[in-house]
Amino acid sequence: MKKVEIEGKLNTSIIYVGEKIDNVWKYIKNKNTVVLIDSKFYNIYKKRLNFDKIIKIDSEERKKNLKTVTRIVKKLIDFQVDRKTFILGIGGGVITDLTGFIGSVFMRGVDFGFITTTLLGQVDAALGGKNGVNYDGYKNIIGTFNQPDFGISDINVLKTLSEEHIINGIAEVIKYGLIYDSEFFDFIEKNYDEILELNKDIIEHIVYKSSKIKADVVNEDEEEKNIRKILNFGHTFGHAIEREYGLLHGKAVSIGMIISIKLSNKLDYISEKKYQRIIKLFDLLKLPQSIDFDEEKIFENLKKDKKKEDDGIKFILLKDIGKSVIKNYSFDELRNLYKQITW
Ligand SMILES: NC(=O)c1ccc[n+]([C@@H]2O[C@H](COP(=O)([O-])OP(=O)(O)OC[C@H]3O[C@@H](n4cnc5c(N)ncnc54)[C@H](O)[C@@H]3O)[C@@H](O)[C@H]2O)c1
Repeated sequence: MKKVEIEGKLNTSIIYVGEKIDNVWKYIKNKNTVVLIDSKFYNIYKKRLNFDKIIKIDSEERKKNLKTVTRIVKKLIDFQVDRKTFILGIGGGVITDLTGFIGSVFMRGVDFGFITTTLLGQVDAALGGKNGVNYDGYKNIIGTFNQPDFGISDINVLKTLSEEHIINGIAEVIKYGLIYDSEFFDFIEKNYDEILELNKDIIEHIVYKSSKIKADVVNEDEEEKNIRKILNFGHTFGHAIEREYGLLHGKAVSIGMIISIKLSNKLDYISEKKYQRIIKLFDLLKLPQSIDFDEEKIFENLKKDKKKEDDGIKFILLKDIGKSVIKNYSFDELRNLYKQITW
């Protein structure tokens, strides 16, 4: 097991990569715990979980909203919780986003932690203290920055995930190599087949390495005023595609990254040789690269991005494998640039 520490303004979080779900009680100080758990995960693993106050939630993006928050709050009140109650979220990104939000606002904040059960959650969603819910087509528009007390990333539970949810997580893993660490990109390239076969040691390494990179970036800039913006690589178009076509987050981000990589190549930041190398790895990892989208709708949708500033956006491009750059573009400039891409 390896530890990664994330320091937030309100709280410091320790992520235990490779810890087992059965050991969760080692990390909870208060026995008065309420669990918010993904229903599917509960059905598979209930025999290994030893809790009596459980709220089951169907993890669906369309249900990550205030209505679900209200339903959970009602149940917390039924359980007669108080400010010392610990809230444990067990599930993927939908559950960790909901748990972090409720833990931050319920009774003005109670202690909370996560057992993260999807690859996307372990390498991204459950790390860094962003939480939130969607509202009226705007993704994660209501939320806070607040780190959980701890996160457990048990690699063993990933084996019950569907292949599409593994691919979904791999998209965020490759992102770290592309924007931050060329050696990590080399590692992914060298071990792509073991990654797809879910080789435990290799997966544990990529979860650890991804957590470490995200922690390094968040520790420098928790509230995304500067360097944390690079983690949005692929997310500008990705979020618009996710909202418009209902694709899984990682898959939409994968297509968004391809658009950014093509633009980086067009602008001569990324050589043709490196561009081809990246595309080959996307192919090998079965990452989606395009979708037949309605350009008008996607560019309208980009304006719903909560990261927009006036009539433009900070857009992340690659300078090299392992090196990213933040550029300011108006929506018109971005659209003109986009038109130069060839598919
Ligand atoms: N806060 C952040 O920084 C951040 C970053 C990225 C993504 N997100 C959010 O994360 C969410 C997506 O997360 P996700 O991809 O983990 O999706 P998810 O939470 O919906 O889980 C995916 C599916 O896997 C199932 N599942 C979970 N664990 C399982 C297991 N071990 N075995 C079998 N099935 C299992 C769930 O029931 C669900 O059907 C989105 O809402 C996105 O906005 C947040």
